Amino acid sequence: MDRRERREQNRSSWNAAVEAHDSHRANLPGFLRGGGSTLFPEEVGLLGDLEHKTLLHLQCNSGGDSVSLAGLGARVTGIDISDEAIVSARRLAGKTGARVRFERADLYDWLREAAREGRGFDVVFASYGVVCWLPDLVAWAGGITGVLEPGGCFVLVDFHPVADIFDRDGNHFRDYPSGGEPVYLPEGVGDYVAASGGGLTPAGYLEGATGFRNPEGAHLFRWGLGEVVTALAGAGLRITALHEYPYTNGERCLAGMRELPGRRLAPPENVPAIPLMYGIRAESD
Ligand SMILES: C[S@@+](CC[C@H](N)C(=O)[O-])C[C@H]1O[C@@H](n2cnc3c(N)ncnc32)[C@H](O)[C@@H]1O
Repeated sequence: MDRRERREQNRSSWNAAVEAHDSHRANLPGFLRGGGSTLFPEEVGLLGDLEHKTLLHLQCNSGGDSVSLAGLGARVTGIDISDEAIVSARRLAGKTGARVRFERADLYDWLREAAREGRGFDVVFASYGVVCWLPDLVAWAGGITGVLEPGGCFVLVDFHPVADIFDRDGNHFRDYPSGGEPVYLPEGVGDYVAASGGGLTPAGYLEGATGFRNPEGAHLFRWGLGEVVTALAGAGLRITALHEYPYTNGERCLAGMRELPGRRLAPPENVPAIPLMYGIRAESD
């Protein structure tokens, strides 16, 4: 199976999962209309002032963050490979009155076409479970540079690859990610919104779909943090921040995680700190 076929399989897996994810989100339109936000302080801090900025949100999923970014004053375009995610995102924007443009596309195709058409953005943003879907970091970083305006910035917040070497009980069970090693998940995209137990539903959690099983498998790609940074620097971006966080926002990657204020999850008290999330700001000259 080539890379495109794998990405198309991932499209099917995401399409199958979106309805289950959305079923847990209580009154998200009302929450956003009332000035609520699905964003976490880490990305808000890295993004800085967004007033009147054009912002490209890569892998926007069902659009909660895209609408929240529009609430900070940005003119947002969200793109995602999943048909169902984009349908859901457009519905959300319609219900909130947010003027966000959503396009369904494989980001590799979209970035290439956008650069060819001369489209430019002040900010490009992606977050939480995004790098693992990318089979090619050099093309990804080059594509981002190709649509960034001079003086623009790219912000990424994602789960730390160190977390990927431990099983749920904290046993060091596999190698640190590198080289985009492909991994096939026959169980596909799971119901991580339910698993977060409210950590990803700031507007309120509904029981919604129970026992979701995805009939569509998914292909992941394992990259180390150094490879992500090297790809961005190699595409000509200047790394101005690289933060590592000893907690996750919403993701229960280890058993017995402690809930901290602000929907943060940390390992149990007796576990020495490890980085579980990272954030990057990279700027174009
Ligand atoms: C875990 S979600 C990201 C979470 C998202 N930031 C949010 O706010 O909910 C990963 C997203 O990446 C999308 N995706 C995976 N591969 C992609 C590709 N090649 N091009 C565009 N989107 C892709 C999936 O459809 C999914 O919506």
